Amino acid sequence: MTDSPTRPPVTLLDPVAQYRRLQPAVDARLAAVLEHGRFINGPEVAELEAELATLTGSRHVVTVANGTDALNIALRAERIGPGDAVFVPAFSFVASAGAVALNGATPIFVDIDPRTFVMDPAVLADTIRHVRAAADLVPRAVMPVDLFGLPADYDRLVPLCQQEDLFLLVDAAQSLGASQHGRSVGSLGDASITSFFPSKPLGAWGDGGAMFTDDPERMGQWRSVSAHGTAEDPYDARRTGTNSRLDTLQAAVLLAKLPGFRDEIARRNAIADAYTEALRGLAETPEVPAGSVSVWAQYSLLMDDRDAVRSALAERGIPTRVYYPRTLPAQRAFRHAAPLGLPCPVAEETAMRIVSLPMHSELDDRAVDRVIAALLEVLRDQQPQRA
Ligand SMILES: Cc1ncc(COP(=O)(O)O)c(C=O)c1O
Repeated sequence: MTDSPTRPPVTLLDPVAQYRRLQPAVDARLAAVLEHGRFINGPEVAELEAELATLTGSRHVVTVANGTDALNIALRAERIGPGDAVFVPAFSFVASAGAVALNGATPIFVDIDPRTFVMDPAVLADTIRHVRAAADLVPRAVMPVDLFGLPADYDRLVPLCQQEDLFLLVDAAQSLGASQHGRSVGSLGDASITSFFPSKPLGAWGDGGAMFTDDPERMGQWRSVSAHGTAEDPYDARRTGTNSRLDTLQAAVLLAKLPGFRDEIARRNAIADAYTEALRGLAETPEVPAGSVSVWAQYSLLMDDRDAVRSALAERGIPTRVYYPRTLPAQRAFRHAAPLGLPCPVAEETAMRIVSLPMHSELDDRAVDRVIAALLEVLRDQQPQRA
């Protein structure tokens, strides 16, 4: 069965539809930049940083070129490097562990919760003990990832990091706009970073990232590291740094999108609720703990026979993706580090069974209904084979 040529396809992302919806605001913002010509450090960058501070409740915001740079700069500013251990979830995008390794530190992998897919604090406590007792490394930081837009378990992570004297650096690349017990992402750890990669809930139309902290000294270090290590005098570097800036055109795009961001989050939540309601009892749907609000960067569920389900859905015109088919410790760049932590069986099983459904702000009710109808049909077809 193929998709009818008269029906618009169901998409995994539709930035062009979003542009059409926001066109007057975006065009005006972009035209203003083209008129003033300050493509680097234009006024839109500072305006966006102020808006992001309001959105997150974080005192200081530093925008940078992308989320990976944000992680690198945060680790670099903290002087985390060779001989140091940073605790990272075993199931995430590669950048979470890559930034640790690129700074010369060792990522120590921590297993995840099977229903929320975020770092399991009980396993973290065991892993910290294990590394303190066995490895020749100094534990320095914990980097939870708010995977798929859901805040990690900060009720337990914050006191644990305080007790263990570890820097809590939140990889909120996927979760800007989410909250926990009324506190916004960006203000849940010692420092947080996010990404404006186009597929993120608040996506730019190119690369972008931001860093969040309440600590003015830390903010000053980030600004310096991201500007070649300089401070007031641009020709006197104080430390080794890099060049990482959000360019003005991307700031303008994000400013045009921000006024509607809350509505987009509400739309994503409505789609997630519809999926969860329809799939109740038929599939292992993702869980949102009480007190947490997700931004549903992805709607990911677990299923047996994943490949068969995906190809049956594709035949019905429904695209899906697998985030992520491999755990971090299973990737070649990190295999040396994997034995220094504890085994991560939940992450391994998740990588084999997870699949993500279409999820973005431009999906209309008819598209959502088509995803659900196709999924119900495919799952029903599968059932006799399982019996
Ligand atoms: C969890 C996570 N961390 C870090 C990044 C890196 O962000 P960027 O692509 O902006 O470098 C991403 C996104 O791509 C991500 O999903």
